[in-house]
Amino acid sequence: MAEITLTQAPAHIRMGSSIGQPLTRREGVLKTTGAARFAADNHPAGMVYAALATSSVARGRVTHLDVAAAKSHPGVIEVMTSANAPKLAMDPDAKLNPFMFKMEVLQTDTVRYAHQPIAVVIAETLEAATEGTALLAPQYEAEPVRLGLDTEGSFAPSIVGAGNPAAESTGDLDAGLAAASVRMEATYETPPQYHNAMEPHAIVAAWEGDTLSVDTPSQGMAMAQQRIGGLFGIPPENIAIRTPFLGGGFGSKGLVSGPQILGIMAARLVGRPVKLVLRREQMFGPVGHRAPTRQTLRMGTDDKGQLTAIGHHAKTATSAFDDFFEPAANSSHTLYASPAIATTHEAVRVDTGTPLFMRAPGEAPGSAALESAIDEMALACGMDPLVFRQVNYAEVEPISGKPFSSKALRQCYDEGAARFGWSTRPQAARQMRDGDGMLVGWGMGTAVFPALMFAGNARAVLRQDGRGVVETGAHDMGQGAWTAFAQIAADALGLDLDQIEFRSGTSDLPDAGIAGGSAHTATVGVAIHGAGGDVIGKLADLATGDQRSPLFGAGNAGLIARGGRLTRRDDESRSESYADILTRAGLREIDGHGTGAADPAVNDAYSMHAHGAVFAEVKVDPDLGQTRVTRLVGAFAAGTIVNPRLVRSQYYGGMIWGVSFALHEHAIMDKRTGRPMNPNLGEYHIPVNADVPSIEAIIVEERDAHVNVLGIKGVGEIGITGTAGAIANAVWHATGVRVRSFPITLDRLIEAA
Ligand code: MOS
Repeated sequence: MAEITLTQAPAHIRMGSSIGQPLTRREGVLKTTGAARFAADNHPAGMVYAALATSSVARGRVTHLDVAAAKSHPGVIEVMTSANAPKLAMDPDAKLNPFMFKMEVLQTDTVRYAHQPIAVVIAETLEAATEGTALLAPQYEAEPVRLGLDTEGSFAPSIVGAGNPAAESTGDLDAGLAAASVRMEATYETPPQYHNAMEPHAIVAAWEGDTLSVDTPSQGMAMAQQRIGGLFGIPPENIAIRTPFLGGGFGSKGLVSGPQILGIMAARLVGRPVKLVLRREQMFGPVGHRAPTRQTLRMGTDDKGQLTAIGHHAKTATSAFDDFFEPAANSSHTLYASPAIATTHEAVRVDTGTPLFMRAPGEAPGSAALESAIDEMALACGMDPLVFRQVNYAEVEPISGKPFSSKALRQCYDEGAARFGWSTRPQAARQMRDGDGMLVGWGMGTAVFPALMFAGNARAVLRQDGRGVVETGAHDMGQGAWTAFAQIAADALGLDLDQIEFRSGTSDLPDAGIAGGSAHTATVGVAIHGAGGDVIGKLADLATGDQRSPLFGAGNAGLIARGGRLTRRDDESRSESYADILTRAGLREIDGHGTGAADPAVNDAYSMHAHGAVFAEVKVDPDLGQTRVTRLVGAFAAGTIVNPRLVRSQYYGGMIWGVSFALHEHAIMDKRTGRPMNPNLGEYHIPVNADVPSIEAIIVEERDAHVNVLGIKGVGEIGITGTAGAIANAVWHATGVRVRSFPITLDRLIEAA
């Protein structure tokens, strides 16, 4: 029986003008002047330096280390190997939940991949620690290396990515293909990519008895506390983590990595604070990477160009000892309508570190293949690639049948195409040249990324002087989260931004969950909004229940919180300042709490995504095959835009990673040794300024009433999706050559020609 509620909450509303302002980063001056402290900038008294020695073989065991030679080096304090490393309270190979990944922390002499840590040298100086590692002269018992997607023993995983089913389908794929009047089938390859955030993983760890203090970049402090607490057998609350700034995370700092744990172990072993920072090449192994994929797309259309079938099969590689499967085929679940869709995955085990989350996991390689295949299908139908997409995008998510916010996608197509000038594009390839004789091509791709929320908390305090404090244990990875959160906080309390003190970045603050999945702003933003609402509700009760207040008896009509005052909704001439209300009540402050989390009922009812369309122009040297992206236009709809300057910056960053994916990034693995052959930023190519074209990100207005109370969707990852495919399609349009292997380097272009 339905419950009858006799009381109705007053309809307070809060108003502010901070959300939507293109403010610069609050910590911008600190960062540009070098005053911002990143993890490795912390030097507690008595701190010593640790350096990792890593394996040059990819499989086997360490049989000898010349510890005596390293220890005889002046300045070296201790050498930590599997022989003397502190034993952990928990097996680092245990998996108590799917987000717990195995780590190599000197509990055995086994080697699982190249660049695995095999020893830690601790010294008074960084130089001595580094030289100490060079004296270890490791000897190994090495076994043959298994590497590459053709490694024996392929199998079908049951779960891919963060717990998604590995195979999903609707309709009958074979029947859909058989019924088609036009068909395509092609196989695309994407390479392994390694995390190269500007700031490598770093930790400064200091023990005091059984309490631990760490400065380390972390995308999720509460999870890090749990993980560290479990490994060292101490309560999570004994661990204080400070992570005010991250020099990029991109997924690699979502979970604590083995090297970070080794820094904590080293501090315990020598009884002094220890700093450990990964060298650039040490990023190529123990901190996760994007696994290679080989994806086969099969599609068919009827004679109107309507898709009748989409088959997307993705083969990938995980490590020999743990499970993470790049969910590349899942990008075909959502975007295009077809009566028959089948997405499947296959995997092999290889001797590398375990692949993990990297910005737009699944969607990045998946959309590169899907958008290339869509282009090939459009061509086979003799249709313009934009028109083909406009004919085929889904109104309801094909597999789940949930409504999909396709209106926003349509606007992205229209606004992006208009801005780019797509309508004058010749349909055939090799039709355009610039004044220097370079071949010019135009291509496009659809961008899409789920609008996720995890769980986060925030606390808001209103002080007697009318100023507010908002606290949440969140992270600023460089994306500007703190600025966006402060803007949300100001509006949540009905204050101006300069009346807010925003505190974040330490583990003693309310757990803000994880900064990942493009979900951070929505999750923590909703928590902050809720905390502010809690405070304003309590403040309103004080005023409306007090005969001395002009707000007395405002009743169900409720109040407006704005500019540090509460005002009656039924009579805006009657108002009172926050400070006056608190002073009269004799309260120093009021505090409130809020949580942010996805609403399962809404998730069940709607397919919620951010959308976009990316248009690319490339110029290709007809003799040398050298390719440059000269223009990128992306149009994106992602609900409420908290700060358009920072959101554009996120889109730019994603699109530049798309350039990287299409043309540059490629970890080249030596099949004999299992070693990455280009583990440095000289040879592991990423776009530098000269590679970044004229780039434009259009913010398409969208109000999504379902996604959450603030209407916020994520913007961090969507920029990569669509972009890599758009560039590949532009290369085809310039040259008439279809390169199906990423990155599209000039040798591949010439070879395919
Ligand atoms: Mo991201 S790969 O969810 O940090």
